[in-house]
Parts: sequence; C-alpha cells; structure tokens
Amino acid sequence: MIPLSVPFLNGKEWEYVKDCLDTGWISSAGSYVNQFEQQVAVYAGAKYGIACMNGTVGLHIAQILSGVTSDDHVIAPNITFIATLNAIKYTGASPILIDVDPQNWQMDLNLLDKYLKENVVRKNINGEINAFHKVTNKRIKAIMPVHVLGNIGDMNYLQEIADLYHLDIIEDSTEALGSLFQGKHAGSFGKFGVFSFNGNKIISTGGGGVIVTNDEELAKKAKHLTTQAKVSTMEYIHDEIGYNYRLVNVLAAIGVAQMEEFPLLLDNKKRMDQYYRSNLEGVGDIEFQFVSSDVDANCWLFTFKTRHMKGLLEYLNGNGVQSRPFWVPMNQLEMFKNDIYITKLNNSNNIYKTCISIPSSAGITQAEMETVVKTIKAFYALL
Ligand SMILES: Cc1ncc(COP(=O)(O)O)c(C=O)c1O
Repeated sequence: MIPLSVPFLNGKEWEYVKDCLDTGWISSAGSYVNQFEQQVAVYAGAKYGIACMNGTVGLHIAQILSGVTSDDHVIAPNITFIATLNAIKYTGASPILIDVDPQNWQMDLNLLDKYLKENVVRKNINGEINAFHKVTNKRIKAIMPVHVLGNIGDMNYLQEIADLYHLDIIEDSTEALGSLFQGKHAGSFGKFGVFSFNGNKIISTGGGGVIVTNDEELAKKAKHLTTQAKVSTMEYIHDEIGYNYRLVNVLAAIGVAQMEEFPLLLDNKKRMDQYYRSNLEGVGDIEFQFVSSDVDANCWLFTFKTRHMKGLLEYLNGNGVQSRPFWVPMNQLEMFKNDIYITKLNNSNNIYKTCISIPSSAGITQAEMETVVKTIKAFYALL
C-alpha cells in the first residue's frame, strides 16, 4: 500500500535519540527541547517558541492566554480538523463557525465581514473595547484562521477584520510549517501560531507541537502554563492551575533532526505537488484547490475535488493507494450542531462530499507517484 502521509526519518534522528538514551535525558528537561523551540520559532519568523505535547494542547494554551472564557465566542472555519473546535470548547467558549471559500477552502472572509457588520456591537467596558454579539450578548474574543492543507487565505483582510473588532488572532498553523503569505510565515501573523508535529505532518516528532509568539510575556506564561505553573525550581510552589503539556526531550531530539532535514522535505512536497498537478490536470472531473499567487504553500497533503469521490476512494484503497475523505464539516458533528454556523451556499458540505486526499509523504518516490496517477486514471477510464 502506498501510504497517505508517513514520516521521513533520514537525518540524525537515531543519533539524537541515542544521545538522550545514553545520557538519561529522556524526559521533561534537556537541551533538545530548547533547541527545537528555537529552530521552529526562527524558521517561522517569530521571536519565541514553546514546545508542547501536540498541536491541540498548543491551541488550548493559546486560547487561555488570549483570555478566552466560557462567556465568549471564538470564530473558526467550518472546515477544519476537530482539534481546532475542541480547543475552543475546552475553555467553555462558543464557536461561531464560518463557511469556507469554495476555491481555496479557507474561512470565507467576505461572509465573515458581512456577518460581523450586521451582528456585532462594539462596547467599551472599563476602557477595553470589545465586539459583542447582538443576539447572544457574548463577547467575540478571538478568531482562529486554520491554514487548511498548508494553504493560506488573505491574511491582510483577516487582520483588517480582527483590528476592527478587536479580535485576537490565534493561527491554527498546525498543517502549515513552511507556508508563506506575501513572504511572511504562517503562524507569525497572530498573537499566537501553533504548529503540529504528529505522524502525518510535514515533519514529525511522533506527537508534538510548538506555540510561537512575538510577545515575551506571553511566551513566558505559555511555558509556565504548559509546565504545571511551578514558580520555584526547588519548592513545589505553583501559582495557578497549570497543565502538564510539555514535550519530552526524546521527542524534541527527533524534532531537531527533522528541522535539519526540513528544507529537503519541503522541496520534496513541492515537487510532488507539481507532479500531481501536471499529471492530473484534465483527468475526469478533477478540480484542484486554488492557491493564490500571494501564497507559497508547503503542499502538505494533496487533495482534490471530484463528484466521484466515494467510488474513487474505494477504488484507490482497494488497489494499493491509501486515500482518505476530507473532514466532516464541524456544524454536522453532534457536539457543534447547536453552535452558530454562518453560510450562504454551504460550501463546506460540497467540499466534504467531493474532496479526496492522496499519498503525499515527503519521502514518496517517483515510481509511487506514477502508480498513484496511473491508478486514478484507470478509475476514470472505467466510468
Ligand atoms: C487543522 C488541525 N488542527 C489541529 C490539529 C491538532 O494537532 P495535533 O494532532 O498535534 O494535536 C491538527 C492535526 O492533527 C490539524 O490538522
């Protein structure tokens, strides 16, 4: 089976992990953690990086430090992996789900803009201006753009909206390490950006995440909160409810090795994307995700639209080509079905019903890509 997206471990992963084992530094302290944090922050063009167990907990911490509470709303796209929404719900806040653009599959900012104009009032409470929803009376505290599949929406427009309504931007950049918008790295636009290093990401630590920010105070607080909020190195004094969300040294060691290999892996992904685009163009009714000329995408997971998604999915998986459908839209899941969902044409549902992801590992070979394309063409030839 040609796998969907598996790690590529051809660098110094063994050497660095062995170093952890040889020295006994396998757990929550150790130099690889700091090194990994810095590598990711520098790469993303942010001042500070805070390693954590995974992207989901990183998003949770970012919500807490943005001051999101159970009385608030947080804006998020309706097409995302569930972790984005879970992180909002951990704080008790209520999501406002925004349908996505039918071309680039990112949050539809025109729809959001119009919705906020009609449904929000700004209030000055104790010198702090915030946007409040006219019907629920809840404060809208933050917006979470998700850089779906490593593509990026119009960050200038998003920033304009966030400024106008005093929203904190928390970027779910979990899929977007290596993606740029107008030359600026994903994750560096907002108050926080969060990256994931789980097994299917462009680089992996097995499981892991890094929160990035340019704010020193917030960076310190993020480190504090992810490490049980301990204030003294000696005594067990903790000054708030913290979390054991730290990334262990042995996983950070893998991360350091992976970051060293990252430029190569990113190149491979881009080559893969070009190969698929040029060889699948015009095949059946295949439609690609639109990537604007402002975006230099990391081409994380090759996904396209076809009305024959279900049949193709079955055919590929039955013929040695692992493929997957796209996420069920958030508004269709039981836990979120009573949350606000803003849409005109329900593009989310169309994307869900038609999108399919095909093998996209950074280490995919030319022969494997040829097999994938040949198998897809064979399917359409049967129709
Ligand atoms: C869009 C999105 N958000 C959040 C996450 C959560 O990251 P993690 O699996 O590291 O918790 C992922 C990846 O799994 C993701 O794809």
